[in-house]
Amino acid sequence: MFIQNLSLIGFMGSGKSTIGKMLADKLNFLFLDTDKLIEYIQGTTISEIFKQHGENFFREIESKVIKKIYNNKNCVFACGGGVFCTAENIEIIRENSFVVYLHMSEPEAYERLKDVKDRPLLLKEADLKQKIAQMMNVRKDIYKNNCDLEIDINRKSPDLIAQDIIDYLKMH
Ligand code: S3P
Repeated sequence: MFIQNLSLIGFMGSGKSTIGKMLADKLNFLFLDTDKLIEYIQGTTISEIFKQHGENFFREIESKVIKKIYNNKNCVFACGGGVFCTAENIEIIRENSFVVYLHMSEPEAYERLKDVKDRPLLLKEADLKQKIAQMMNVRKDIYKNNCDLEIDINRKSPDLIAQDIIDYLKMH
């Protein structure tokens, strides 16, 4: 399959950045990570942006970044987990890329996220398991209904997942 761009979407901790870099190498595409671009533009970390300006401000910058970067071709984009919560973002991303949803179960998400400190939306949660379940519940259909390919990543290594995606593109 000929693709202009590839986007990785999915919940926090699904490995979008790690797998995205691998895919960019394999496809000889440029790798761009929305969170890293936002940190670069703002000159500080995502956690600090949330702390100082709040989520709405972060979402505004995120949408501006989406508008700009999808003018490019031959890129792999790792999209922050909340990028798909805005209809306009979804439209831009779907129009300009092949969208791969990295799907994982709630227990897998919990295992991957239980010790992280750099996801402001999950910090200070008395019941992290419940918070993850609640967020995944809201988001899972949005991810599912707006992707071109869904990959189950439970207990799979990033290498294997990247190869599965490449194999799919070769076969279609
Ligand atoms: C968010 C996911 C994060 C980051 C921010 C908000 C979300 O990115 O954009 O903390 O709303 O799911 P990752 O999905 O790369 O962790």
